Amino acid sequence: MDPLELQTRAGHRPSTTLGAKPKPKLTKLIIMLIIASLAIALGIFFVCYSTFLSGRNRRVSLRYSVVIDGGSSGTRVHVFRYRIESERSVFDFVGDGGYASMKLSPGLSAYADNPEGASVSVAELVEFAKRKVPTGMLKKSDVRLMATAGMRLLELPVQERILEVTRRVLRSSGFQFREEWVSVISGSDEGIYAWVVANHALGSLGGDPLKTTGIVELGGASAQVTFVSSEVVPPEFSRTISYGNVSYKLYSHSFLNFGQDVAHEKLLESLHKSATNSTRQGIVTDPCTPKGYILDKNSSGSLQAAGNFSKCRSATFAMLQEGKEKCPYKHCSIGSTFTPNLQGSFLATENFFHTSKFFELREKDWLSEMISAGNRFCGEDWSKLKVKHPTFNDESLLRYCFSSAYIISMLHDSLGFALDDKRIEFASRAGEEGIPLDWALGAFILNAATATFDFSGKSRKILDLSTVARYKI
Ligand SMILES: *[C@@H]1O[C@H](CO)[C@@H](O)[C@H](O)[C@H]1NC(C)=O
Ligand SMILES: *[C@@H]1O[C@H](CO)[C@@H](O)[C@H](O)[C@H]1NC(C)=O
Ligand SMILES: *[C@@H]1O[C@H](CO)[C@@H](O)[C@H](O)[C@H]1NC(C)=O
Ligand SMILES: *[C@@H]1O[C@H](CO)[C@@H](O)[C@H](O)[C@H]1NC(C)=O
Repeated sequence: MDPLELQTRAGHRPSTTLGAKPKPKLTKLIIMLIIASLAIALGIFFVCYSTFLSGRNRRVSLRYSVVIDGGSSGTRVHVFRYRIESERSVFDFVGDGGYASMKLSPGLSAYADNPEGASVSVAELVEFAKRKVPTGMLKKSDVRLMATAGMRLLELPVQERILEVTRRVLRSSGFQFREEWVSVISGSDEGIYAWVVANHALGSLGGDPLKTTGIVELGGASAQVTFVSSEVVPPEFSRTISYGNVSYKLYSHSFLNFGQDVAHEKLLESLHKSATNSTRQGIVTDPCTPKGYILDKNSSGSLQAAGNFSKCRSATFAMLQEGKEKCPYKHCSIGSTFTPNLQGSFLATENFFHTSKFFELREKDWLSEMISAGNRFCGEDWSKLKVKHPTFNDESLLRYCFSSAYIISMLHDSLGFALDDKRIEFASRAGEEGIPLDWALGAFILNAATATFDFSGKSRKILDLSTVARYKI
């Protein structure tokens, strides 16, 4: 272990023994010993050096990527760190330093009247990201902004003005940036990304398409349904993505305006309209609001809260059926939209999850339990509910009668999940590591898989990958 000491001792021996009778056998032995120890020393040195080198290489191949999610209720920055190992991207969303995120409210769409205002929150989110990425890596790390349903609902020129403001912030951020990396993505992109992160978390991405898990998301402004279907799907609902050497044929659709908040507002609006119209015919009741809640402070009681789960379920089902008479396909699920037969298992996320958690439903039989819980909640007196849930503000507490009924009329009455269907679970995270089921993670996974091979000069569409990416479970 100490080559230097061996060498000096070896160098001294001959001189001290010069005067004495040399013993040839002993000299030979000493020489061999010297050679052997030199070889060992060299070996040790080589092992140490190569370990050092590979350590350096590993550090060099660390990458960073930033995805900003422009959602309807807020803007969230996600900072990802990953590494390239033998041309594959390896992610770690849960471990130390592999992932960080921060959200600011309100969302970008709140700046419709003042697009300049959007720059402040985006700049703050960029500052957060810069603190997570080593300065030397900024130029090599991409930053993208993808906006969703809130922005989709604005007029195109307004969307573009807000996007341009955010482009200006990102352009001067120091990160690697291209103009086209700021966009309003389609609802179906969002669904695909959510499907990607779920199947990555479950370890099924890159495997048998028939063993993948579908996703149903209930957001605030839109709802998405995405799953592998072996049926022939009309092209407007059909998306194909490749991962590894597997190709996935997906049904994907985003039901714009069918998110929980927008649907609830729509129902209240139509009830208000018929209430102002029909004062002479009598009182109009709102079955989705527990009795005792004062709905319309102005028109003194023409619209009355009369919570009744069954009636609320019928009212929401009627909304989901609107336009069905125009169905151009062999059958329609929601409105005039085609959905193929359900196939495989499913995860129900976002508001499906939040409502299930609110009612403390067990994962087993949660759809039947949702009906009992909704029955109790809708039929309860508002004052009693307020006492029972003191931490909730009126607006969010009020929502649970509507949401329980809406979830049943969407999943069971419209999409056809059986009430005792074991194939559908509610979730906000998935896999052994508990990876968050956030579509932005899926967008990153697909982009990172593409980026790994960018150096070969090949460019690929984000959702049309033919690269091999391995992921850590
Ligand atoms: C690609 O396909 C081949 C043969 O179909 C299979 O043996 C191989 O494991 C696949 N590779 C990946 C990464 O899925
Ligand atoms: C209000 O009532 C009038 C006459 O009864 C009818 O023509 C109109 O369509 C109604 N409007 C709404 C919004 O229901
Ligand atoms: C209630 O009435 C006031 C004044 O008449 C009006 O400004 C307000 O918009 C009304 N609110 C609703 C919800 O109709
Ligand atoms: C709710 O409405 C249904 C009919 O839609 C009725 O049979 C039931 O008795 C009502 N429940 C209550 C508690 O009023």
